[in-house]
Amino acid sequence: MNDSFQKAFAREPEVLSRAPGRVNLIGEHTDYNGGYVLPTALPQHTSVQLARRPDTVVRALSRDLGADSLTEFRLGSEQRQQSWIDYVQGLTWALAERGQPITGFDLFVSSTVPLGKGLSSSASLEVAIGRAINTAYQLRLSDFDIAMLGHRAETAFVGAPVGIMDQMVCSLGDRSSALFLDASTAYFRKIPIPPTVELGVVDSGIAHSHASGDYRTRRRECEEAAAALGVRQLRAVSVEDLPTIEALPEPLNRRARHVVTENARVLAAVEALQSGAAEALGALFLESHASMRDDFEVSLPEIDRLVQLAADDPDAFGARLTGGGFGGAVVILCQPGTARRVTRRTVDTYRAVTQCNGEVLLPKVQ
Ligand code: GLA
Repeated sequence: MNDSFQKAFAREPEVLSRAPGRVNLIGEHTDYNGGYVLPTALPQHTSVQLARRPDTVVRALSRDLGADSLTEFRLGSEQRQQSWIDYVQGLTWALAERGQPITGFDLFVSSTVPLGKGLSSSASLEVAIGRAINTAYQLRLSDFDIAMLGHRAETAFVGAPVGIMDQMVCSLGDRSSALFLDASTAYFRKIPIPPTVELGVVDSGIAHSHASGDYRTRRRECEEAAAALGVRQLRAVSVEDLPTIEALPEPLNRRARHVVTENARVLAAVEALQSGAAEALGALFLESHASMRDDFEVSLPEIDRLVQLAADDPDAFGARLTGGGFGGAVVILCQPGTARRVTRRTVDTYRAVTQCNGEVLLPKVQ
């Protein structure tokens, strides 16, 4: 790996850093409504090598993220190019906005986080680069600061109107616990994943994109529902308000119903995780999926099929679409020691019945 930096820039990197991808256990499309989420980190990660330069030029190369050629820009002249370099530009732009001076640098990025599968390849990239810059320039940013910097880069520079879940878990999460996060206060707490469950993740083979219109549309519908209910964010309403919510016009009623019931499911999932109640947690996964499918309408028939196939396995407690939706991956809650078999079998059947290119992502195939 060092070799690649050396080959590209004919010198040694000064700093190495990395950050994981993530899978959300439950709490979907709740973060930008000020609600709760419960993601965990994945073994797949983005690795970054960086060396400072005395001028204001940034040169970057990645063989995993698209263009296989060196891209350059100048600090202070960041302009969107519709490629992965925009995340790098977004970070330097956001650092300048915070008044944190840096010089140019050379950057080599590699990643094992699959792109476009709802596993936060972009937040993982932002956090890995944020960490490298933080170390190289001794900026003394906390993990929380790095998460916020990545979020600012993605929303204000790249232009994807995402919530804070992904950057938070990529920066603060780990693989042995789930990160419970209240997006309205940024309060977070780690909850160990109990030995009564094992996680599996399978890709549907259908790519998604956040900057795409669908995510934006859902976000706008939530804002409209909040306005119609006379609250700033849907976080301010709960399952007690369901009679009022159901009286909203279609589809705002169902969008808001998803958000309030999903928030309640996250709180119930925290309790289930804490007490190791695998069956209760599996049931919450299935309810969450049904709500994403019927009320929030971010699933696809192939993904519903994948969830059903996984949930039908006798060693699975439940399964659901994870991430923003309209494609991407499914998370499966399995009996300990069975995830490798459950995910393999699910993907094989899925491929046979849908002709889609499903793939096991967790447990990681070596
Ligand atoms: C994407 C966004 C997150 C969140 C999820 C849906 O992953 O980046 O902020 O909104 O979709 O839960």
